[in-house]
Amino acid sequence: MKLYCVFLIALACVSGTFGDGLKCTLKPADIPTSWIDIVDPCTKAMESQVKTEIEASMKYLSMGAHFARDTINRPGFSKYFFESASEERDHAIKIIEYLLMRGQLTNDVSKLLKFPLNSDNTSRQEWISGEDALSDALKLEAQVTRSIRDIIITCETPQTSSFNDYHLVDYLITDFLEEQYKGQRDLAGKLSTLGKMMQSHGQLGEFLFDKKLLNGEV
Ligand SMILES: [Fe+2]
Repeated sequence: MKLYCVFLIALACVSGTFGDGLKCTLKPADIPTSWIDIVDPCTKAMESQVKTEIEASMKYLSMGAHFARDTINRPGFSKYFFESASEERDHAIKIIEYLLMRGQLTNDVSKLLKFPLNSDNTSRQEWISGEDALSDALKLEAQVTRSIRDIIITCETPQTSSFNDYHLVDYLITDFLEEQYKGQRDLAGKLSTLGKMMQSHGQLGEFLFDKKLLNGEV
């Protein structure tokens, strides 16, 4: 009987937790909120960046899958883009963790899943060559960099408050912008090498570049 009661209570908790989207129906603990100083435009910009990172991840997943198709068969490009997809997903997790550290996302985490995705970034499924895909990836990264810079501007001088969020600005510059600029330079370098290899060897150049990409040699 005791075991049956425990089971019923557990079932009630589970249905209470998952029955209403991702909301927890338990009454939250009564914790003072004076320590939470991040301002609304800044929170919204960061939440939007989660969507941007997820879109980038999905685009790289499409690229990884495209180059893994039997008719394309470029395992180096496929591996590179699948790894890029994982990195973008990690960026989304880092932003979610940052917002949680600053006392955000405590009420309705499911709103992060309700953003409509930008079809410009997620609809393309085909690339005519490795060069085309790397070039598209470089454009995507430049777009992500602009988006991070916009958050920095928003959080440095929010229109609705005089609160300069030094910590968030520093975090974005150190952890995100640094990686963006290095990533962009890496893609530009790869495009340059691939272009030269194709100039001298044609399609064989792309085949050889793919082998080098697979072995982490380029
Ligand atoms: Fe990213």
